[in-house]
Amino acid sequence: MNNGKLPAGGNYCCGIDIGGSGVKGAVVNMDTGEFVTERIKIETPQPATPVAVARTVAEIVDKLNWDGPVGICMPTVVKDQVARIAANIDSTWIGTNVHDLFTEHLPGRSIAVLNDADAAGLAEVAFGDEVVRTGTVLFLTFGTGIGSAFITDGTLFPNTELGHMIVGKKEAEHQASSAVRDREDLSYKQWATRVDKVLKEYERLFNPSAFVVGGGISRKSDKWVPFLTVDTPVVPAQLRNRAGIVGAAMAVAKHVTP
Ligand code: BGC
Repeated sequence: MNNGKLPAGGNYCCGIDIGGSGVKGAVVNMDTGEFVTERIKIETPQPATPVAVARTVAEIVDKLNWDGPVGICMPTVVKDQVARIAANIDSTWIGTNVHDLFTEHLPGRSIAVLNDADAAGLAEVAFGDEVVRTGTVLFLTFGTGIGSAFITDGTLFPNTELGHMIVGKKEAEHQASSAVRDREDLSYKQWATRVDKVLKEYERLFNPSAFVVGGGISRKSDKWVPFLTVDTPVVPAQLRNRAGIVGAAMAVAKHVTP
């Protein structure tokens, strides 16, 4: 199952998180959600075509010296293991059977593929704050795009894509992703005003019990969450940028495939 350096008898799976700028992976202890190997990151190949990305994934799994199950999450709707949308990845992903693609590059093992925000949400349910396991939670990731996962009493409703909801005149992620903050050089306060507008629209339509905010920028939540005026509580995610990898590993361990 592994390179012999992992403690024997453990319950491990490999998780891979495909992002707009990097593909990241590690082997995860499924009982604790901790990484049991280093985290390997390789820049996302450009163009990020299915074959180029699948090769990068295989390279990471090889570097991890791992020959067991692999869960993969990526920024697309994954329905019946077919990618359905490509906002921040190459358009040739649309219609690709991702299970077959990754199986071809990682033969002879279990593979599961799911949306990146759904994976991160699942990881927060298992290993994050109690707030994610109770009530109707809208889990959001702020990165290259905005990812969403609806979670009701710990159960995921997959593939929701709220980053593409029109808020005002534009898609939410075109005004309030963390990439937009970088691109437009916005202060945390300026950016928080945009996030607030998006959250108020989500609140108006979905009335969640809490927003849980993840993605790299959740690490700096003290810099922007205090500026939000939305009524619904906004809670930073606990697993931060580990969540995608852990959730992907969980998907293959638990055979969760939307
Ligand atoms: C994609 C989603 C993804 C989100 C975060 C959006 O552009 O359409 O599938 O979850 O970005 O990566």
